[in-house]
Amino acid sequence: MPFQSAKRMVQRCSAPLRSWLSWLTGGSWKRVVAAVALLAALAGTGAFVLVSLGLVSIGASSGHWKATGWMLHYAMRRAVSTQSMGIEVPPLDDPALLLKGAGHYHTGCLACHGGPGEKRSLIVQQMTPEPPYLPPRIEHWAPQELFWIVKNGVKFTAMPAWPAQKRDDEVWAVVAFLQAMPGMSPERYKELALGGRSDETIKPITPDHLRPLQDPLGPVLANCSRCHAEDGGGRGEGAFPRLAGQSEAYLLGALQAYARGERYSGVMQPIAAGLKPAVLEALAQHYAELPPVSRTEAPEPAPDILAEGLTLAERGVRARGIPSCVHCHGPKGGPRNPMYPNIAGQYAPYLKSQLELFTAGKRGGTEYAHIMHSAAQRLTPEQMQALADYYASLPAAAAPPVTEATSTHVGTPAQNSSPPQQR
Ligand code: HEC
Ligand code: HEC
Ligand code: HEC
Repeated sequence: MPFQSAKRMVQRCSAPLRSWLSWLTGGSWKRVVAAVALLAALAGTGAFVLVSLGLVSIGASSGHWKATGWMLHYAMRRAVSTQSMGIEVPPLDDPALLLKGAGHYHTGCLACHGGPGEKRSLIVQQMTPEPPYLPPRIEHWAPQELFWIVKNGVKFTAMPAWPAQKRDDEVWAVVAFLQAMPGMSPERYKELALGGRSDETIKPITPDHLRPLQDPLGPVLANCSRCHAEDGGGRGEGAFPRLAGQSEAYLLGALQAYARGERYSGVMQPIAAGLKPAVLEALAQHYAELPPVSRTEAPEPAPDILAEGLTLAERGVRARGIPSCVHCHGPKGGPRNPMYPNIAGQYAPYLKSQLELFTAGKRGGTEYAHIMHSAAQRLTPEQMQALADYYASLPAAAAPPVTEATSTHVGTPAQNSSPPQQR
């Protein structure tokens, strides 16, 4: 019978195995543990000797052995899968997320990973592991896994973590773009990431030595325009704030806060930190000189929401310690501290997101930002929406300039640290 012969065979083969095991253990599991510990110590010492003698292959030129490469990727896939469990995926179909994600992809990912119509740089292809050309890789990952990778980066691979760990909202914008990338045409990519421009100077790693010397801001401004538009009006959708119409002091303060890492944004921090102080000053001056533009194409919100926004902005909520906003942000005439941004005519989604960040303690900003932390602290989501809709519905206007005579009324950070009197 085949079954019995198989059984005999097992018995025959297992006999030597059993006698070897009983020799090893001598009937005691303690000896097994001791033997395993000895082997591990020998292997550890051997590995340390190899490392000390400098014999471990660390050259990127030789790549990984197939087995090492497989093991590392397996470890990464398992770690990402396990550690991204429980991450809730927010709705990702907002066109503003796509724009913001594409804009940042061009700054921070393209050189390593390539993109629609864009090859990876030849230099990064010499890395081990090589950053993959990303479009065909996206389908292998669930959205929460992409989020995890982009937020945390991957150790030992040069895949960087998100520069502003507090800004999950920005990481989701990148995920929204990544998911739209497979099958995207090069034209669509240019439209999203470059605002339709095909200016060669916008390529992130192109040296700009061919630019005329008398226009040193040229290539820098071309990059800002990808997102904030040439007229400083943003690109619609509310992905990028309007800059035109802000005071020079506020713009410079914001840029310096990003550069110092005191205002948190994985999109703006790397850009501002990469520019010299004099360039930041010139940029602030440039945008402050542009006439204010409103490009808020969103449908007009319901009249009762606007009315609620108006009441909140003018009166605040005395019972909950929410100050009136108009005192510092207008639209009332009269000089204001130039460090108080003009929010009239700003995009509603941008205003709402900044209020949410203030409430969550994730906004940062200049030395005046603490004023807003207390001002926004107790706003409900509905109140934030009403305030954002109300201010977005106003025409954009620059605040009246502060003159010698009025400058004593506009205050210093210390003077303004408590919210103004409520009415
Ligand atoms: C300095 C180069 C570099 C930059 C910049 C970079 N990455 Fe990576 N990325 C890597 C490397 C290296 C890997 C790991 C490749 C591997 O494990 O084989 C990786 C892996 C990934 C993966 C997983 C790919 C896969 O299927 O294994 C994703 C997704 C990813 N990166 C997205 C991004 C995004 C989005 C950005 C921009 C925010 C970015 N990366 C910026 C180098 C980079
Ligand atoms: C990839 C798109 C992108 C590029 C390029 C870019 N920005 Fe921004 N910018 C943003 C986003 C997104 C924000 C909002 C960030 C936040 O949530 O704090 C922002 C915010 C700002 C703010 C703060 C505005 C406010 O109302 O507080 C200033 C000032 C600014 N950017 C200036 C610039 C300048 C100058 C350049 C060029 C050197 C530039 N940006 C390039 C996307 C971009
Ligand atoms: C005492 C003055 C003051 C009051 C009152 C005040 N704010 Fe502010 N607000 C500021 C300052 C200062 C900043 C800029 C902080 C920074 O970036 O350093 C700011 C920033 C903001 C921003 C972000 C703008 C941008 O471009 O990023 C929004 C939105 C905002 N305030 C809305 C409000 C609302 C709504 C209220 C009323 C509930 C209010 N503020 C009350 C002083 C004030």
